[in-house]
Amino acid sequence: MTKIKHLGAVSGLFALFLVAACQPNPYKEGERLYKVNCSNCHMDHGEGLHALIPPLAGADYLKNNRDQLPCLVIHGIHDTIVVNGKVYAEQMPGVESLSEIQVANILNFINTSWGNQNQPFMIEEVRTLLKKC
Ligand code: HEC
Repeated sequence: MTKIKHLGAVSGLFALFLVAACQPNPYKEGERLYKVNCSNCHMDHGEGLHALIPPLAGADYLKNNRDQLPCLVIHGIHDTIVVNGKVYAEQMPGVESLSEIQVANILNFINTSWGNQNQPFMIEEVRTLLKKC
């Protein structure tokens, strides 16, 4: 009986440890999500790919179109856009399965990586903007 109690206490502690270990650092989580969903096109350092994929590193688009970014991540974009003076007109698919928190984490990762210093998104802001897509 005591053995079982012990086991309960130990697995309880282990569960606590797991909960703590699973609390992701938002920046690291954004980086992980970026690698999975975005880096095959926008590349590891956000540099983009020639005339096909616009860069995220140093992109004026992020500042000029801040309010559109959450919808762009979820629904993608197929438009003619100008990024740092260059025209892009390919199609970007969205990732509809991402949660509001994941969208905020990805955007905050790209907004503060590779020299970018753009204002971070709060979850509330992402939620409000997604309602307007
Ligand atoms: C299949 C390739 C592809 C993937 C995957 C992709 N993008 Fe894009 N992205 C593009 C293309 C192409 C454009 C330009 C679209 C246009 O011209 O309408 C673009 C445009 C953008 C822009 C606006 C322009 C700029 O450079 O600032 C942002 C921001 C962006 N993508 C972020 C992301 C994020 C974040 C992800 C991951 C969730 C992602 N993209 C995944 C291809 C991709």
